[in-house]
Amino acid sequence: MLGRLSPPYQQALETIGRLAAVVESPDEGLQAAVDVLARSFAHYSWVGIYLLEGDTLVLGPWRGPVPTEHTRIPLGVGVCGAAAALRRTEVVPDVSKDARYLECFASTKSEIVVPIVDEREVCGEIDVDSDRLDAFGEADVVFLERVAQLITPLARAALRLIEG
Ligand code: SME
Repeated sequence: MLGRLSPPYQQALETIGRLAAVVESPDEGLQAAVDVLARSFAHYSWVGIYLLEGDTLVLGPWRGPVPTEHTRIPLGVGVCGAAAALRRTEVVPDVSKDARYLECFASTKSEIVVPIVDEREVCGEIDVDSDRLDAFGEADVVFLERVAQLITPLARAALRLIEG
């Protein structure tokens, strides 16, 4: 799978892997991953990680021009809630045409949400908004699913700290 990624994706994946190995806390690792994603790809306008606490997605580290008011999203609600409930990547090429879409930013035109899955259980997700229409292709799906795998131990550890 790694071999099929084009250089910018492969490089970002390797950077996230290296950072994940040296960070001092799960939150720091998740923030580092978000930062690499947001700065590496011009079509990733806003990047955030939600952690699934019980039946609620709670916003963790994020990077973007402005904060979102959707910091807590119930499972099953919005594109984020759908991806977590269905345990599958959701790509929305045009958010204006998806009834599930919860608006965070007026500038968002498309969105991808990739679940972070630990032993078949969703523990969080990566949410990327783009100001471009139809910004996310197969390369983004493959890449972000690899990133999700890579950061699964960090998300699991962050949740353990929250839940005690
Ligand atoms: N648009 C998402 C909500 C999260 S914001 O994009 C940050 C949704 O429809 O679930």
